[in-house]
Amino acid sequence: MAVINRIAGYSEEMAAWRQHLHAHPELAFDCVNTAAFVVERLKAFGIEEIHGGFAKTGLVALIHGKEPGPVIGLRADMDALPIPEETGLDYASMVPGVMHACGHDGHTVMLLGAARYLAETRNFAGTVALIFQPAEEDGGGANVMVQEGVLDRFGISEVYALHNAPGVPEGQFYTTPGPIMAAVDTFHIHVKGRGGHGAMPHETADPVIAACGIVQAIQTIVSRNHYALDDLVISVTQIHTGTAENIIPETAYINGTVRTFAKEVQALVQKRMAEIVQGVASGYGVTAELTYDVWYPATINTPEKAAFAASVAAEVVGEAMVIPEAGREMGAEDFSYMLEARPGAYLFLGQGEGAGLHHAKYNFNDQIAPIGASFFARLAERALPLKG
Ligand code: NI
Repeated sequence: MAVINRIAGYSEEMAAWRQHLHAHPELAFDCVNTAAFVVERLKAFGIEEIHGGFAKTGLVALIHGKEPGPVIGLRADMDALPIPEETGLDYASMVPGVMHACGHDGHTVMLLGAARYLAETRNFAGTVALIFQPAEEDGGGANVMVQEGVLDRFGISEVYALHNAPGVPEGQFYTTPGPIMAAVDTFHIHVKGRGGHGAMPHETADPVIAACGIVQAIQTIVSRNHYALDDLVISVTQIHTGTAENIIPETAYINGTVRTFAKEVQALVQKRMAEIVQGVASGYGVTAELTYDVWYPATINTPEKAAFAASVAAEVVGEAMVIPEAGREMGAEDFSYMLEARPGAYLFLGQGEGAGLHHAKYNFNDQIAPIGASFFARLAERALPLKG
């Protein structure tokens, strides 16, 4: 009922690996040195079967147990974010403008810790496929790996992943049966009017007032068009226009994000946004063009796998530190593509107080690495029990 002793024994090394990765963050699909570091460690653990080159820098490593059996996939994301780091740590990012602000350095190390333990002990019947994935933050590396046939090629029958959670007590796990993270879409609206002198608006077709009208009207999709008990967020996050106080500009640009769970809600938003943009624009005598991009789908846990994973977590941290039905969040995650293809579950692991995800002062808490690694290791042993 605790962190695995053997894994606790390498927690100092895990912290050193993590801090090395933290100092050398890489973006999106370009996790070249991170992947090389992972391969070097895996080889040192005696893991021979390493397949690279998926999603450019992703890789899959296979650890075979003492007896034959099915294959389960454990996934870690490896990429960083385009944020200038402000932690002041002595191992802060050495790459200007890039930092591990979502803890994927810690995710990579938690899976490495589990890999080392599983390679040393092999007390399971079947194969553990370690999936190290680039481009979670931008580009959908998980989708690329699924499209490249990773799950089929290695016969992976179920998949699991873990994300750290700042602001949640250190070592507390939470997950939920069914939908856990939202689908994410983005929209871009180009408004075209007719510019002119700020003192003579009657001679112009003002894109500023039209853009404001569009932003206001879009919010009525949430308040007036969709069923109140369905989850929906529409946030306009940027408006760009204009150059001076006395000039009515020619164009305006709006963008933002949409979060949903149900495909019908997603379709409703697309339809209504197109209607509103056209209708409001023509009402103000301007034109507008909407580009609506559908990105990651909702992350949906298989209920029995989420319950199973929660029971494994309880073995590591005790039942009082596991919330098995925490409910859903409006964030998004590209592990959703793997969960569309295979049963499995996504969990969060609390890392205590500190700056939030995607913040310039965020840092992964090395104290939780042995907990996450123990969770992955126990999960493999429980999902693939020895018969002999
Ligand atoms: Ni993340």
